[in-house]
Amino acid sequence: MENEGRMSRLASMLRRRGVILPSFEMYGGVSGLVDYGPVGASIKRRVVDCWIDHWTGIPNVREIDSPTITPESVLQASGHVGEFNDHMSECKGCKRVFRSDHLLEGVHENPDTLDAAKLDDEISRNGVCCPSCGSSEWGISSPMNLMFRTSIGAMGNARAAYMRPETAQGMFMLYPALFRHFRQKLPFGAVQTGKGYRNEISPRQGMIRLREFNMAEMEYFIDPESPPEVDLDRWGSEAVLLPDPEGPFPGEHRVSFSKAFESGIVRHPTVAWFLAMTMEFLEKVGLDPGKVRFRQHGGSEMAHYASDCWDCELLGEHGWIECVGIANRTCHDLLAHEEHSGSSQLRGWRQFDSPRVDSRDVLAPIGSVIGPKLKDKASEVTELLGELQELPDSLPFNLDLGDGSVVQITEEMVTRKTVEVTSHGEYFTPHVIEPAFGIDRIVWHILDHNFREVEKEGENYTILSLNQEIAPFDVSVLPLFDKDGMGEMARGIATRIREIKGIVVDIDSSRSIGRRYARCDEIGVPWALTVDHTSLEEGSVTVRRRDDQLQVRALVDDIIIRLANGTMEGLF
Ligand code: GLY
Repeated sequence: MENEGRMSRLASMLRRRGVILPSFEMYGGVSGLVDYGPVGASIKRRVVDCWIDHWTGIPNVREIDSPTITPESVLQASGHVGEFNDHMSECKGCKRVFRSDHLLEGVHENPDTLDAAKLDDEISRNGVCCPSCGSSEWGISSPMNLMFRTSIGAMGNARAAYMRPETAQGMFMLYPALFRHFRQKLPFGAVQTGKGYRNEISPRQGMIRLREFNMAEMEYFIDPESPPEVDLDRWGSEAVLLPDPEGPFPGEHRVSFSKAFESGIVRHPTVAWFLAMTMEFLEKVGLDPGKVRFRQHGGSEMAHYASDCWDCELLGEHGWIECVGIANRTCHDLLAHEEHSGSSQLRGWRQFDSPRVDSRDVLAPIGSVIGPKLKDKASEVTELLGELQELPDSLPFNLDLGDGSVVQITEEMVTRKTVEVTSHGEYFTPHVIEPAFGIDRIVWHILDHNFREVEKEGENYTILSLNQEIAPFDVSVLPLFDKDGMGEMARGIATRIREIKGIVVDIDSSRSIGRRYARCDEIGVPWALTVDHTSLEEGSVTVRRRDDQLQVRALVDDIIIRLANGTMEGLF
């Protein structure tokens, strides 16, 4: 089949078959919002389930679920209120607003790495024209925060809030509960799937840039001094890696993940591990490994919370698109929440192999002076003096009691001493490695990579070769006619199949059998069972395999066992 027009044929199939459709269409639609129809929602649900199974396969990883409405204070601490911006440029001709970096696509190699001044420079130097009215007069670009603002509660009592821009903050809020759940022992992780919201300036490209989208993220908390050891040789396959061109490994590298880490292309062992696991997941859900690459962010492209980030990009009808980000968020978030909230529960505990004895300078209180002088505050001051991490250079100094009051400590109240302190461990702020998946982009690319057009009897015939575990239905039961007991038998078979855990069944008795096969192939149902007159006599069905359209006859009982066992092997 010709490739020309493939994208519009794919989009039209997705709409016609209830896979993905524009939202609120009868009211004119809203760009950046889409619906998953009855077929698409099943595919998406199964991709998400597969994702959860994949990542919770790591020991000490559990699923959590937190609100999408997030108080402003949380997002102030995380940096999203201040820094989660895109730059926009307003056309002086028609007053329409565009993302400044999008105006430079095709003009500049990497426009999303440019700061405001450089964006304006490049737009003006290249005489970029307004995509709407053609004018080349632009206002100065300005940052726009991407979060949807809302409020919790009514009127004067309302509290400022935002729709969450990432699920990650929910995991950081639950860190104390996770720490307890995992019995104070790192590493551990939490996964969360659900909606995220970004008020994109000019969403386009259908499923690629949505304002409300499905995310799947894991926050994996580690001790930076002893990250988990993982045998990367378990993932033998090679992948295409594009490290930061400004770094020590410019250019494209085709290497295994273990080589990528050994050679220093990927700096952190946990990042390398998650790159490998990402590749494994993408193959599991049926993406073409030849259309996957990992690209490291340059410094100016990095999100405000990350010290290193690799995008996993997928090639499809829209070109190379970032679908997954694997970021080393270090201690950025936990530390920021500790500072902003005052919580003392955002730490990990590092047990020493053997007790450590350190000498430490202390200001030892002189009881006979402090007691009479400070009276009921004496014991509190004694305790706080013992906890002082940094001693003042000179005395007197003001000791902060933490309740807004201070006590002046003078020479006569303390003596400076060196003491030996034995410690069995220490508190530290854990680091976080985060794989973050854009589920809608992944679903789009699964559909794109598996949309096959073949010529059949002179006509264009479509097959969606989805892996069974993410197909909308595992199997479709088709009575040849809905009469003479065939419809009843088909419904009975569907009921039996529905009882098999994890198997999704559809039943279709509309129109000709040829059209029903075509529908099954088009939406990616791997197996069709046809009930005909012989079925009534023999208790058998015709089993049709989507990918080569071969058919065999088999007993219903045999098929039920095979579906339950998850294999049709040996049937054809
Ligand atoms: N948490 C990753 C992201 O917001 O893209």
